[in-house]
Amino acid sequence: MKKILTAVVGMTFLLCYLGWENSGHTFDTKPSSIVNKISRDEKRVKESISDAAMEANGKASDDEKMISADTNGAEGVAAFTDPSSLLVLVNKQYGLPEEYRPRDLVYPDVPFLFSDKIDKRKMREEAAKALEQLFSGAKEDGISLMGVSAYRSYKTQTDLFDYYVHREGEKAAETFSAFPGHSEHETGLAIDVTGGDGRCAAEDCFADTEAAKWLAEHAHEYGFIIRYPEGKEQITGYKYEPWHIRYVGKKSAKEMAERGITLEEFLTPEQTGAK
Ligand code: DAL
Ligand code: ZN
Repeated sequence: MKKILTAVVGMTFLLCYLGWENSGHTFDTKPSSIVNKISRDEKRVKESISDAAMEANGKASDDEKMISADTNGAEGVAAFTDPSSLLVLVNKQYGLPEEYRPRDLVYPDVPFLFSDKIDKRKMREEAAKALEQLFSGAKEDGISLMGVSAYRSYKTQTDLFDYYVHREGEKAAETFSAFPGHSEHETGLAIDVTGGDGRCAAEDCFADTEAAKWLAEHAHEYGFIIRYPEGKEQITGYKYEPWHIRYVGKKSAKEMAERGITLEEFLTPEQTGAK
């Protein structure tokens, strides 16, 4: 009798456990879509994944009105924690899942420094169309532009970041290169551009070119922002990059340009102290 009772109790426990597993629960809880990755060497921001995600989601709900309807529709909720949102926030604090790859990558019909049809020429469809219009608008104003580097996979960003670390050390590399999973290039919404002569591509001297001046003045008209502006290094976490433009949609880009604020200030005013 005792043996039968033990067998029944054991079987009940096993069945309960299996049912719980199949319902999607496991002991090994992993963060879902958006993650706030912690650096390999644990030097980075150490907020817990769940805290950061919850905070971000709560904030996004509060800011529903602020987040432009043209890019996110009526929902607008948690727009900046959704990797596929046109307003996704990717920086040292907020990252993308390693496996994320945008579904609508296309080749924008604009000249690049290189002729190969490779990933780094691609952008998400809406951003690619906007980029074509931006290049045409620049041309009408007598400015020719060239693409330097657009989409990068997690793997490519890993190789690039490691290359810079090898070349300059991690501390220096972190001021201008993103940790894998934390580069906007992985969203398919960012591109580095240079002038038609190809000089100063992704170099400081680009800042003094006519192309850089034109971008600073007009990029927002096409839905792009200068993502790492001069004087905002403490907020963006990166040195001034006049060549790195990020698509956010016209409405948001216009507002950010008019207010002179970064994407961090636009999306997370509480964390950045923006008004
Ligand atoms: N240069 C920018 C920060 C990147 O690596 O994405
Ligand atoms: Zn860039």
